[in-house]
Amino acid sequence: MLESLNDVYNLHDLKELAHTRLERNALEYYSSGSMDGHTLLESTAVFSRLKLRPRMLCDVSSVDTRTTLLGLDLSSPLCAAPTAFHRMAHDEGERATARAIRQFGTLMTLSTLSNTDMEEVGLEAQGRWWFQLYVFRDRELTRSLVARAEQAGARALVLTVDTPRLGRREINVRNLFRLPEHLSIKNAGTQGWMPPASQGGDGLAEFVAAQMDASLSWKDLEWLRSITQLPIVLKGILTAEDAKLTLEHGANAIWVSTHGGRQVDTAVSTLEALPEIVEAVNGQLEVYLDGGIRRGSDVLKALALGARAVFLGRPVLWGLACGGEAGVSKMLNMLQYELELTMALCGKNSLEGLKPDLIFG
Ligand code: FNR
Ligand code: LAC
Repeated sequence: MLESLNDVYNLHDLKELAHTRLERNALEYYSSGSMDGHTLLESTAVFSRLKLRPRMLCDVSSVDTRTTLLGLDLSSPLCAAPTAFHRMAHDEGERATARAIRQFGTLMTLSTLSNTDMEEVGLEAQGRWWFQLYVFRDRELTRSLVARAEQAGARALVLTVDTPRLGRREINVRNLFRLPEHLSIKNAGTQGWMPPASQGGDGLAEFVAAQMDASLSWKDLEWLRSITQLPIVLKGILTAEDAKLTLEHGANAIWVSTHGGRQVDTAVSTLEALPEIVEAVNGQLEVYLDGGIRRGSDVLKALALGARAVFLGRPVLWGLACGGEAGVSKMLNMLQYELELTMALCGKNSLEGLKPDLIFG
């Protein structure tokens, strides 16, 4: 039985401890996948099926994991994905995440659906953050979110493109997922109170259906481009076709994601989708990956296949649940240790050395 962060040696332990700390409504929201959970399960399983080809006698006396994302210097390719509602895990919520990330020297992506105003998070993150955008039917509200993110120091906008509707997470439908009454969707102002679903079911699914713009299409990228100077990252791309459209429409980076197995069930896993996307963009855009990263070797595999960085969703929430900022820091440091160890054991002393020949078959 794990009792505190001191008993935690890896992300599996952290998950186990977090699951004893979270109340049911939060736990079910954080851990759910859509429908039968095939894509959710596959998001972790796919990494253990892929085998590494370690090289020997390569002088790994020092291992360097530094990189850049859209020009920002990072200590490591480990970044935080946007996840909604951090204050369900810890009272300091998104501010604790921002502090841990700033200290670690990478970047966090703040969800549109945070429980903390982006200005407060911007102060903590000190430039080490991107803003994740959901486009509301109310375009004026959307426009003001973008302007506020620029003003508060976000370095990029991450437009999530895989959520015209919320995926069906049956456990959240069955148990009537809702935000606890003392929390709100802070950035959305007066529309930020998320009521329990009126007809029963998943309160967030009803909120998304009522507030978000399901008519969004490629032409809206021009609108977004016209209202911001920030780089635009498209999150949720899974095919070469959409990667090419991303290039054509002038977005600045691609984030390969299945939304943590919460949207299209039986969608291809991100690790399997990655090679065709990397091939389609042919070095013209940065490509990132998220979903199921739990070990340093997972990071190596994603980078070897062409991702420039990986993003962590649920592990950040587990860290928060187990100890706020200290928990998120511990999560990042454990994964960083494993990344450096696995690089050394595979004969790689920098990220540039991570190429497809590291993967067997
Ligand atoms: C998410 N994700 C997500 N994505 C997004 O663009 N905006 C959001 O508000 C959220 N919210 C959210 C909440 C929760 C509880 C989860 C688990 C996920 C998706 C997230 O950014 C990311 O794609 C996945 O979480 C990555 O998978 P792992 O790391 O959780 O396996
Ligand atoms: C989710 C939304 C908020 O996955 O992106 O729950």
